[in-house]
Amino acid sequence: MHARRRYEPGPEVDSFYHLRGCDLAGRACQGTACFVARNSSGEAQPCEDPRVYCLGRCFESPVTGLSGRRPRIEVHSREAVVLKRLAEGGARSLETYWRGGGYHALEIARAAPPEAVLDAVEKSGLRGRGGAGFPTGQKWLTAAAQKSSPKYVVANADEGDAGAFSDRFLMEDDPHALIEGMAIAAHGIGAERGWIYLRHEYPAARSSLERALAEARDAGILGRGFDIEVFVGHGSYICGEESALLLSIEGRRPEVMARPPYLTERGIFGQPTVANNVETFANVPWIIEHGADAYQALGFSKSRGTKLVSLNSLFARPGLYEVEFGISVRRIVEEIGGGLRKGALKGVIIGGPLAGIIPPGLLDTMFGFEELAAIGASAGHGGVIAFDERTSIAALVRHVFSFGAYESCGKCTPCRLGTRRIEEIFAKADDGEWREIVNALKWTSLCGHGTGLAAFAESVMRYYGEEVASCFA
Ligand SMILES: Cc1cc2nc3c(=O)[nH]c(=O)nc-3n(C[C@H](O)[C@H](O)[C@H](O)COP(=O)(O)O)c2cc1C
Ligand code: SF4
Repeated sequence: MHARRRYEPGPEVDSFYHLRGCDLAGRACQGTACFVARNSSGEAQPCEDPRVYCLGRCFESPVTGLSGRRPRIEVHSREAVVLKRLAEGGARSLETYWRGGGYHALEIARAAPPEAVLDAVEKSGLRGRGGAGFPTGQKWLTAAAQKSSPKYVVANADEGDAGAFSDRFLMEDDPHALIEGMAIAAHGIGAERGWIYLRHEYPAARSSLERALAEARDAGILGRGFDIEVFVGHGSYICGEESALLLSIEGRRPEVMARPPYLTERGIFGQPTVANNVETFANVPWIIEHGADAYQALGFSKSRGTKLVSLNSLFARPGLYEVEFGISVRRIVEEIGGGLRKGALKGVIIGGPLAGIIPPGLLDTMFGFEELAAIGASAGHGGVIAFDERTSIAALVRHVFSFGAYESCGKCTPCRLGTRRIEEIFAKADDGEWREIVNALKWTSLCGHGTGLAAFAESVMRYYGEEVASCFA
């Protein structure tokens, strides 16, 4: 048996985090949705340290501090896989969750052999909703096949991609759905312990989850063979990357690690670990209850099921929506979002700042993992940030690379220093070696932070080349 040992974090660990002990009241959000909203209304951009990059309030940005306001929440797919309860006002208590049929899927799963759970999740075609779109069933099968025990399950609730607020409201208003999904995963892979890695910026989600965990323990759903604890981060975007996340839980300095070994083989405390995004877990009860075929029938191509998309405040109808994969970006922007409140659409950033921009001419692209990748964009975590002509491309590049530099874990030189250099080049409009730096980021970065920044820069060159050239004229 492996002894679980958490390192006692020293100053080299503490110094990594931006928000340890930071009170968020009165802090201006500097995330991308707030950035474009301030440009749109002509407000000055804040420049306070430590920076707060996303408070999960992009539907009402620009914002300062926390708020309990809810976004508009609607289902725009044939089936409400994830948002049903939220669209009906939420299910914060166990009783409400039970009344709506909650934990029935866990009963079905626990009455069946673990292989049946693994088989259903694999056949459903579910892919990770945290950004990379990795097949969930494949991940679970690998962890289940490991001989070593104990095994662990982690929910990635870091939701660092500015523009996305779906995990926030899933956890605040439907916390038992995440717990149920994690418990089903634990049954499938044979895990005895779980963590929810929650970002510092979501204190209301913490209360909601802790209350729900206590209720689940009292009801005997957790505690016998599998239990979950909430682990709160201290403000670091890179801790959403799964190897940094695992180091953070272990109490070590969270610098991204090279793989293999993968977390499924050697994860937290060296043990097989399944790490999935909150929304990924929230899909699982529906799959177990309705079957893999019903799930496969939703979506299209290699992107099955539904996806939550978060629309920012520049839309006429900002909010949180469940859509089916295969819908066009245009329908999301024009029909669901109602187009822009005012001004002309200049572009859409889907999946956070580490992804390519979609220019108005490509709005007919289908919303699917491969289809978005084919135009240099990404489904990411489903944040949809529209921006108008009052955001200049030079300012946007500066904002994204400033964020990239601030949140780099520092392990790779082009990411640690090159990001800062690109920020300076665009600030001073001196046409330095920025294309070379982007190339270095693209080819030598250890993780998706560097390669994502490169993808963003490439889309800027491809779709906004003339405006970029005019910055250096
Ligand atoms: C820089 C970076 C930041 C990330 N941030 C998050 C995050 O905030 N939430 C998340 O679920 N996944 C994030 N990921 C993806 C995770 O590394 C991992 O792929 C994911 O948690 C796996 O779960 P999934 O398969 O359910 O998506 C990030 C990846 C990178 C490279
Ligand atoms: S690309 Fe950036 S964030 Fe990722 S490992 Fe390298 S330095 Fe760290």
